[in-house]
Amino acid sequence: MSIKIAPSVLSADFLHLEKDIKMLNENADLIHLDVMDGTFVPNISFGFPVAEAILKISTIPVDAHLMIVHPEKYVERFAKAGCEMISFHLEAVDDPSPILAQIHKCGCKAGLVVNPDIPVEGLFPHLKECDFILIMSVFAGFGGQKFIETTYGKIAALKAEMKRQGVEIPIEVDGGVGESNAAKLIGTGAEILVAGSAVFKAQNPALMISSLRNPER
Ligand code: DX5
Ligand code: ZN
Repeated sequence: MSIKIAPSVLSADFLHLEKDIKMLNENADLIHLDVMDGTFVPNISFGFPVAEAILKISTIPVDAHLMIVHPEKYVERFAKAGCEMISFHLEAVDDPSPILAQIHKCGCKAGLVVNPDIPVEGLFPHLKECDFILIMSVFAGFGGQKFIETTYGKIAALKAEMKRQGVEIPIEVDGGVGESNAAKLIGTGAEILVAGSAVFKAQNPALMISSLRNPER
């Protein structure tokens, strides 16, 4: 299992985004884009102008986390802009299947996300349609929140079901991830760690990325 670190641009320095993206190009595995619409979540982050600017200079894969209603309206545009991974929330849609197919049709990897109050069991019928699953370890909407401990149980339950179904896709975890929980998350089965504040508030973000990737276990 190769661990990937996906720093969230939400915590980057928006006045010096180019500098931060270049640092991520050199040090991270993925760039995590948190897209919020003020309706699915009570916050608005950034839209296409910012996403497209980032995608122009990113040299590592970009992972768009859509915290929006009607993700199907915007999938194509994120794909065209160059996102390699696109995920949306299970609880934001009636039927995720056609949207997962739409993401694939655009040539991207498709992921389903669940907030902390959404049981992982809802994902089980769709595991074979996904390229990755994103488990929120805080409620979507804001960076800098405290990690919710029940996440470990959800990862373990998801991992067990994936094994039962013979599905081998990475589990991504997002929210409050840092040095204090990276080892346990990896030990429980997480393969992609999203980290916003932990990376961008660190004295040395590059060093933080590598220590999250190889935490002391
Ligand atoms: C929350 C976002 C996260 C968040 C992570 O809605 O999906 O990606 O920015 O930030 P930290 O690591 O600060 O919790
Ligand atoms: Zn996110």
